[in-house]
Amino acid sequence: MSLLEIEKITKSYQDGTEKQQVLDEVSLKVDGGEVVAIVGPSGSGKSTLLSIAGMLLSPDRGIVRIGGTEESSLPKKEWAKERRERIGFVFQSHHLLPYLNSEEQLTLFQEKRKQKKVSALELLKELDVESCIRKYPANMSGGEKQRVAIARAFINDPDIILADEPTASLDAKRGRQAVEMIRNEAKKRGKAAVVVTHDERILDLIDKIYPLENGKLML
Ligand SMILES: Nc1ncnc2c1ncn2[C@@H]1O[C@H](COP(=O)(O)OP(=O)(O)O)[C@@H](O)[C@H]1O
Ligand SMILES: [Mg+2]
Repeated sequence: MSLLEIEKITKSYQDGTEKQQVLDEVSLKVDGGEVVAIVGPSGSGKSTLLSIAGMLLSPDRGIVRIGGTEESSLPKKEWAKERRERIGFVFQSHHLLPYLNSEEQLTLFQEKRKQKKVSALELLKELDVESCIRKYPANMSGGEKQRVAIARAFINDPDIILADEPTASLDAKRGRQAVEMIRNEAKKRGKAAVVVTHDERILDLIDKIYPLENGKLML
């Protein structure tokens, strides 16, 4: 089943008096256990597309379906809850909170009713950062912080994982490990993962690669 379905998404930004069309009827389906990449030059609309898939931004037109639910037609006040329960985000920078240890980074965001599904310890073990469980970000390496951030993306057992340039702040080896971890977890847990990247060195870890050019996704 496609856990993420994007149908004919169109998005423009108003740029002074000009309208800039960034996405032009973009459609994409990602199945559970599938890892896809959106690639393209800077400014091609990759982050815009990911933000729309992640319900952080409304499209002008088009449909976003996650786990079979048509999210784009839900009232805006329900979006935050849907986002917490259905989507795991991984950003370029780890976005960890400085005053929480690794376990707390995960449990603070954990939904009560998801607590039986997956534990913070289990995820930190799988991502090979169990040794960081009591550590604060200031005492961890860049690669360790990104792995804790990846673990956090899975804590609420989401349907989809969205990662925007997850390797950008890491060296080649750590960057590769981060994508491997996203891939392994997505496969193991049957999640649909979308990775935005222009890091060609990790593309062998990706099931399907979609270039984004002139507002269109090349299928
Ligand atoms: N909030 C915004 N307001 C106006 N223009 C924007 C906004 N966000 C992005 N853009 C423009 O839209 C285009 C695509 O941006 P973005 O989705 O960030 O591309 P990418 O992630 O591929 O670099 C760029 O030209 C950018 O300047
Ligand atoms: Mg971007």
